[in-house]
Amino acid sequence: MNQMLKCINCGKTYSTDSVLYRCEDCDDLLDVIYDYGDLDPGSIKKEWKNEPIRVWKYRRLLPLQPSNPVTLGEGGTPLHECRRLGEAMGLEAFYSKNEGVNPTGSFKDRGMTVGINKALQLGMKVTACASTGNTSASLSAYSSKAGLKCLVLIPSGKIASGKLAQAIAYGAQVMSVKGNFDDALRAVQKLCDKYPLYLLNSVNPFRLEGQKTLAYEVFEQLGERVPDNVFVPVGNAGNISAIWKGFCELEILGFMDKLPRMIGVQASGASPIAAMIEKGLEDIMPFTQPETLATAIRIGSPVNWKRAKRAVKESHGTVTVVSDDEIIEAQKQLARFEGLFVEPASASSLAGLKKLISNGEVASSELTVCVLTGHGLKDPNVVSKYYKKPIEVENTMEDIEATASDVLSDRVEVVVVHG
Ligand code: F0G
Repeated sequence: MNQMLKCINCGKTYSTDSVLYRCEDCDDLLDVIYDYGDLDPGSIKKEWKNEPIRVWKYRRLLPLQPSNPVTLGEGGTPLHECRRLGEAMGLEAFYSKNEGVNPTGSFKDRGMTVGINKALQLGMKVTACASTGNTSASLSAYSSKAGLKCLVLIPSGKIASGKLAQAIAYGAQVMSVKGNFDDALRAVQKLCDKYPLYLLNSVNPFRLEGQKTLAYEVFEQLGERVPDNVFVPVGNAGNISAIWKGFCELEILGFMDKLPRMIGVQASGASPIAAMIEKGLEDIMPFTQPETLATAIRIGSPVNWKRAKRAVKESHGTVTVVSDDEIIEAQKQLARFEGLFVEPASASSLAGLKKLISNGEVASSELTVCVLTGHGLKDPNVVSKYYKKPIEVENTMEDIEATASDVLSDRVEVVVVHG
């Protein structure tokens, strides 16, 4: 399948053999595009029938097909039918795609497996990223697996402890920048212009190609049905754009005859894309001091805003805003109704869905999917801060029974034995 890089703004095309993240003419981002002329969709469908879902299952629709890819077993994540939550919200068909069970605990692994194999193909020796946490965890793991060095810039004091532990454990050179994510991203982009580093933020079009496979999986897991609505937490806006690209490709290939509505969700303190859409602006107005407890999406100047704008416009979707309180409430509900412990940013998709149900923008009969982007264990401090603490008791049956009287009669508490 012929492929090239195409500027999302001016349409100028480039070969996929060079290390390039932006258009040389207008400095905008690049998409990988394909010429499907010689592709037989029927044979692809046949191949797919015989293979379990995972990222490399879809290699024929990916920009590279290494015979022995560097992989940690990414993709193939469960699509849970969430009956209890669905019922509570009055929805007939509600599903959650649990990306937290990817190898490093987030959706980033889908993109990194493709990106790291591209780095090897291009002969790069060192990878780099700026990150609110998950990208750095994922990139450092895949760099280690591939035998590449990895440089990571994180915003000082604003990354969840589990994610930081991962990047350190996988052996990346981790630097904490006195600034926010947007500052760190600007710095790493400058470094990559100056040194032979392979940048694996979502400005890298090959990484987004890996992330589009989520759409393929959802379509297959729903028995080849197309969801009416797909809710995606939005930070730098790479994921919502990649998932939309995946659905569009399935439509181009004739696998689907309609497309879902893409609904992005931002935290209110970091919601420049939602603000642009609400005010009907052409361009984004960055948030210079983004703030939210959902640190993964604490981003004020999302680099993929144009792509996200296109995705919501073309899909007749929107980008909605939720408060930190609504995010924590949704996190609790996913855990307590469905046994899904996700990090706060991930829970924003459910919080956004609840908002659109209450506005009347999502109807009970619509097939709705929330993308849960990262695992709850990434950010244990949020639980210590916003949830009930364990109750300490004496090591006696009397004290244990007395303290647990509520749960013994009906209500749930966590009890820790002391001594
Ligand atoms: N959810 C989680 C758990 C994330 O880690 C991120 C992004 C997003 C949602 C938003 O995805 O940026 O594609 O819109 N995390 C990046 C990082 C920024 O550095 O780990 P997006």
